[in-house]
Order: sequence, then C-alpha cells, then structure tokens
Amino acid sequence: KKKTIILGIESSCDDTGVSIIQNRKVLSNIIIHQKIHSKYGGVVPELASRLHDQNITKAVQQAIFSAKIHRDRIDAISFTLGPGLIGPLLVGASFAKSFSMGLEIPLLTVNHVQAHILSHFIQNANINNSYPNFPFLGLVISGGHTQIIKVNDFFQMEILGSTLDDSVGESLDKIARILGFYYPGGPMIEFFSKNGNQKKFIFSKPIVSGLDFSFSGFKSDVSQFIKKKLKKNTLFVKQNLSDICASIQNIIAEILLEKVEKAISQTGISRIVLAGGVSANHEIRRLFMSLSKKNKKLEIFIPKKEYTTDNGAMIAITGLLKYERKLFDSIHITPYSKFKT
Ligand code: KG4
Ligand code: ZN
Repeated sequence: KKKTIILGIESSCDDTGVSIIQNRKVLSNIIIHQKIHSKYGGVVPELASRLHDQNITKAVQQAIFSAKIHRDRIDAISFTLGPGLIGPLLVGASFAKSFSMGLEIPLLTVNHVQAHILSHFIQNANINNSYPNFPFLGLVISGGHTQIIKVNDFFQMEILGSTLDDSVGESLDKIARILGFYYPGGPMIEFFSKNGNQKKFIFSKPIVSGLDFSFSGFKSDVSQFIKKKLKKNTLFVKQNLSDICASIQNIIAEILLEKVEKAISQTGISRIVLAGGVSANHEIRRLFMSLSKKNKKLEIFIPKKEYTTDNGAMIAITGLLKYERKLFDSIHITPYSKFKT
C-alpha cells in the first residue's frame, strides 16, 4: 500500500511551522521563530502576520528539501484554521489554499488545540514511544489555552474544563515580564528555577469549582508581590530570583496536577496526555511522572520537547488522520480566531 504524504502548515501565533510526514513518520519539521516579539513582552499581531508572510515560502521550501521528496509526491495539505491570531492564520490559510489549487491536491483544515493533543500520534512523539489508547484525558497547556479535554476518539473530543480567564502560559509570560525577562517568559522562569527552593515563597492557589481553571488572580498576587519587593529593595528579587521562579513554577504544576486528579476521579479515566508549550516545563513533567510512579494504574503520556510548542508536524499528523477518514475541506473555508469544537 502506498504511503500517504502530508504537508502541514502552522501559523496561528508567532511560529511559522511547516512539516512533511509520511504516514506517521516525520520527514521534516521546520520552524521559523519570530524573535522580534521578545522585546515587546508578547506577540504583536501585525508584526507576526508580516513575518509569517516573509517566512512561509522559505519554510515550505526547506521542508520539501529536507524531506528529500518531490513536491508532486505530496498527497494533501493541511493547515491551522483556528483558534489563533487572525492575521497570522490568514497567511497560512492563503498559502495552503494556493498550494492545494496549484498541485490539485485535497485541503484539510486543523483545529490547533486538537492538533496539540493529536501530536501524540506522530511516531515516537512522546517519551513513552507509544500511542495512547482511547479514551484519555488531554491536558492542553499553552500560551493560548488551558483545557482538560476528554478524548473519546481522534475527532471526538469533549471539553471538561477550561480557564475562566488567563491561560497558564500567558500568566507565566506576564509574571516573567515583571521579573524583567524577555518573551516567551515560561522557559526563562524554568531556567532560573534551577537550584531554587520551591517552597520558599507560598502563593495562594485559586479556588475554582469543577474542572475549570483560573490564573488571573494568581498572576496578580505574584505580580503584586514582586512589584512590592522591587519597590522596597531592588536587590531582594535579584537575590531570591531562583527561589521565586521555583516557587511559582511549583505552584502552577500543583494546580494543574490537582485538577487532573479531580478529572481522573470524576471520569474514571486514568490515561493522561499532556500537550502544549507549557508541558515542556520540567517541574510539570516531573510532578506528573511522579504521580504515575505512585499510582501504577495511571498512564501518563508526555510529549518530547520538540512537539510541545507549536510545530508543523502536529498539523500534518492531524491532516493525515483526517485524510484517512476523508474529512476534506472546501477551498472556500476561512480561519477563525476563537475556540470552536
Ligand atoms: O503551544 P505554544 O507554543 O503556543 C500556543 O499555542 O500558545 O505555547 C507557548 C507557551 C508560552 O506561554 C511559553 O512561555 C510557554 O508555552 N512555554 C513554557 C516552556 N516552554 C514554553 N512554559 C514553561 N516552561 C517551559 N519550558
Ligand atoms: Zn499551540
């Protein structure tokens, strides 16, 4: 049987990702990061759109070149339809549509959040090197999203809980900014957490019923704390930086873990799949892994680092899974910015 080759395009935020996969194997996975946003403390949509436009042709050329295939071998093209920043999404959509028309191959649209979860169906994408069985609970933690999703099948997902305000990543990025770090702040907080005492500073955990999350109160508490300290004694934050970062990181990891434990007891599902940029965080990975060591019935799937943050491969694999089910889309479809299921 002939193997299916899919080219996937991701452009929902500030990374241009293009990947080619052959069945579930990644042949190439190109990511062009936009460094320009770092000094603004967050993504500037207009600048992001322009840079996607500049980078997308390069990324596609590089992806085809490093996959060592001729473009005529590509069976279908998939791209992120939403959610995300509308300008950046339009760049990817227009490119994908033109490519599909030019090569006369089917077009497949992808929901970005679903793709984060489905990245686990790329060959060897997680540290277990295995695919999760259905049903499982997906924890999507990124700059744009914080959700617990019950995944019954590839395209049968049910949202059990979401953030009522800020996402985890957004909160980390905003706190990081106050600490004087560049965007994205999550990796910086992780970096400075090394050797920090994570129980030195205790911040209160948000109280939210059910499986929803809230991070804006936590973010404000921490921000106020840092600002006050900075005002009083500029050296305090500098001298305690690693303890502050480690404490923030540990509390966030605990909040996430507690919600997931709640979801496990509510649904009786003990298979957990982590996804999204924040799941690159070592403290979160460590806490979830220790949970599975304590409870042998739990199965935890943790993505390899390259599949945590936004990438083209997760868009390509979702495209492949849709292609296999003949879930093609019309060339006239348009991107959306808000979450849809
Ligand atoms: O999945 P992603 O690349 O984009 C969205 O879909 O939003 O996630 C980006 C987010 C940013 O907020 C970034 O600070 C966070 O993921 N992030 C991390 C780490 N790496 C990326 N947060 C904590 N620790 C990390 N190592
Ligand atoms: Zn993402």
